[in-house]
Amino acid sequence: MELYVDSANIEHIRHAASLGIISGVTTNPSLLAKEDPSVDPKTRILEIHKLVGGHLSVEVNSTDTEGMLREADEILSWFPEATIKIPMIPAGLAAVSKLASQEIPTNVTLVFSPTQAIAAANAGATYVSVFMGRLDDISVNSVDVLDEICEIWEVQGYESLIIAASIRHPIHIVEAAKSGADIATVPYKVLIQSLSHPQTDAGLKQFLSDYEKMNVEMKKAIVI
Ligand code: G3P
Repeated sequence: MELYVDSANIEHIRHAASLGIISGVTTNPSLLAKEDPSVDPKTRILEIHKLVGGHLSVEVNSTDTEGMLREADEILSWFPEATIKIPMIPAGLAAVSKLASQEIPTNVTLVFSPTQAIAAANAGATYVSVFMGRLDDISVNSVDVLDEICEIWEVQGYESLIIAASIRHPIHIVEAAKSGADIATVPYKVLIQSLSHPQTDAGLKQFLSDYEKMNVEMKKAIVI
């Protein structure tokens, strides 16, 4: 399972990218709105694009098909390899289908059920984003929903890639991987949390302290 970072924060994306563990970035209007308002979204998106070589999803803000397609054209004029993120509504499916016929990659967002995922796959979505945290928020078990969608993918052989989104904690990453999601898009804070373990910290502390106890000759021998 690949990891993307779900963020519009340049410093967070720069750091995550420097670790060599992420292969893409997803953004949405809420993430962009959290950032410095003096930087317009186009400038910010282009800055993110410069930082990451891989996938970058940019969301449209219209709710009608024509408006979404106009926005897609605008985003593609910024950088042609953009993935256009489109909400899971009927007008969005029509936009996805049109973009798919032009081989433009799309990411259908706000997917909460197997039937929505099936529709997105049939419209030709490149990526289908299943929102785990927001399902759990309303007491629907997100793992059951993701499992069901992954099972359908297996049976039907759909080609759209499944993104586990709305990830709130490291266990969501583990569950997404076990379900068979292709990608988990993870907020920076959760990504960093997922790398640490108290036993790693304790073990490293012990190793460093034992290294300091060695005499100069022993240290030289280790370096050689
Ligand atoms: O990838 C979708 C994500 O940005 C939504 O996350 O935590 O707002 O539900 P959240």
